[in-house]
Amino acid sequence: MTRSKRALITGITGQDGAYLAELLLEKGYEVHGMVRRSSSERFERIEPLLDRIQLHEGDLIDQLSLVRLLEKIKPTEVYNLAAQSFVPTSFSQPLLTGEVTALGATRMLEAIRVVDSQIRFYQASSSEMFGKVPTEPQDESTPFWPRSPYGVAKVYAHWITVNYRESYDIYAVSGILFNHESPLRGTAFVTRKITDAVARIKHGLLDKLRLGNLDAERDWGFAGDFVEAMYLMMQQDSPRDYVIATGQKHTVRQFVELAFDRAGLDWEDYVELDPAFLRPAEVNTLCGDASKAKQELGWKPKVNFQQLVNMMVDADLHRVERMKDGLLP
Ligand code: NAP
Ligand code: GDD
Repeated sequence: MTRSKRALITGITGQDGAYLAELLLEKGYEVHGMVRRSSSERFERIEPLLDRIQLHEGDLIDQLSLVRLLEKIKPTEVYNLAAQSFVPTSFSQPLLTGEVTALGATRMLEAIRVVDSQIRFYQASSSEMFGKVPTEPQDESTPFWPRSPYGVAKVYAHWITVNYRESYDIYAVSGILFNHESPLRGTAFVTRKITDAVARIKHGLLDKLRLGNLDAERDWGFAGDFVEAMYLMMQQDSPRDYVIATGQKHTVRQFVELAFDRAGLDWEDYVELDPAFLRPAEVNTLCGDASKAKQELGWKPKVNFQQLVNMMVDADLHRVERMKDGLLP
């Protein structure tokens, strides 16, 4: 008899959490999300799903809250997406980043080991782990050289996931995902910072956009495509780690050019360089090779770079217009 599928998503209020919850609902899962206590609710991204998912209070910093959640929900799969995920914050709050992003994964794995070691576990690993890259493109065999406390924390979480798989025979997998974006991306990350600013400038609400390193290169994909890879990794006969990427890299400057162009604006009239957005150590370039995922999971991205930029600019133009018309807060 097959067990009915019940997923627990940590980080369900984040960008990926929202897309993954929607995908798992489509696949017939009972979807549960862990949310941390806050003085105000931050459910905007999952608003359309609220009547179809169940939310529970918990925090990756609190071990017993995780144990109790697994005992209560009895999930068949846990997707650990929660993290302090913003690289600059990891320089100003390295210890918090280590507690949540690194040790948080261990706490969830310990909870699985104690409550039910049959629960499958997905860890949200990151291309930031490659950091100062020795070769291009990066794949599953490329060594890690993280360049931020966030990257270091993700390397720890990655290896503890491998270790629990090897030590306790837990189905624990790690998806090494390159940057993925969407209209739901947080506005601090560079892509959404740009598209949000383009929309505000277009509607006369902003004069200038201040950015840091325009020469940084990233392999940017669409979050909706990338959560499908997470799901696929959890459905295999044996647990393996995969790089998930588009294989195409672009500079921040190229993103800026295309985004302003989409709104009929010349970026050079609006963009200013601001050293406040430079990092103590930068990851200059990232570009992934997802051949293993293509061969073994049948995964490939559907949305290309130009389509991603257009999708994000169009969504922000629409949102800011509605905001201006008083239809949105
Ligand atoms: P995100 O939008 O920043 O979401 C992070 C989530 O983690 C939010 O739901 C946040 O809750 C939650 N969270 C933070 N601290 C927590 C804590 N102590 N306990 C419980 N929950 C906590 O991130 P994302 O872009 O969706 O990324 C999802 C995961 O993939 C993250 O682990 C990220 O590091 C990793 N990743 C992302 C990318 C990418 O390009 N997006 C690439 C590789 C890996 P609040 O809403 O309450 O803040
Ligand atoms: N945020 C930001 N703001 N980045 C800027 C800016 C700016 O004003 N100007 C230039 N950049 C450059 C950064 O220096 C970096 O090289 C690049 O734009 C991308 O920055 P982010 O969008 O903040 O993302 P990230 O690559 O540091 O991290 C994201 O991707 C990782 C996967 O590689 C996050 O989502 C991480 O959580 C994720 O693991």
